[in-house]
Amino acid sequence: MTDKELCRLAVEARGKAYAPYSGYRVGAALLAKSGEVYLGSNIENAAYTPTVCAERTAFFKAVSEGETEFFAIAVAGGNGDKVGGAFPPCGVCRQVMAEFCDGDFKILTVTGDGTFDEYTLTELLPLAFSPKNLERK
Ligand code: THU
Repeated sequence: MTDKELCRLAVEARGKAYAPYSGYRVGAALLAKSGEVYLGSNIENAAYTPTVCAERTAFFKAVSEGETEFFAIAVAGGNGDKVGGAFPPCGVCRQVMAEFCDGDFKILTVTGDGTFDEYTLTELLPLAFSPKNLERK
């Protein structure tokens, strides 16, 4: 699975976004160390706060299938039909990533047709609070 293929799957997942309120459609493709890819989209709600982001949908699908180790996630967001622009994952999703992923976990944000930016989790969430902080010595 190349970075480009993972980005293409994120764009595909975006097709399943349920975003009638914001019109902001997001898709994610999460590559597990098993080689399996889990897709997710944002799912909004009339009561607003139950809304879940595409990244967390992908993580929760994967973890509920027994996956706990991951290489990378690609995210494609944008208003209406337009994919791209700067689309960094929200803080809550970064925290969920920190639960399961090391600092070198790769985050790809789709910027346009065939283009993407690449970050590590450490770059997007330095000094993360993670399971390591709860270890008893
Ligand atoms: N959203 C995501 O799916 N991922 C993010 O990282 C940020 C925001 C969704 C939530 C909401 O449905 C819409 O984008 C606008 O915030």
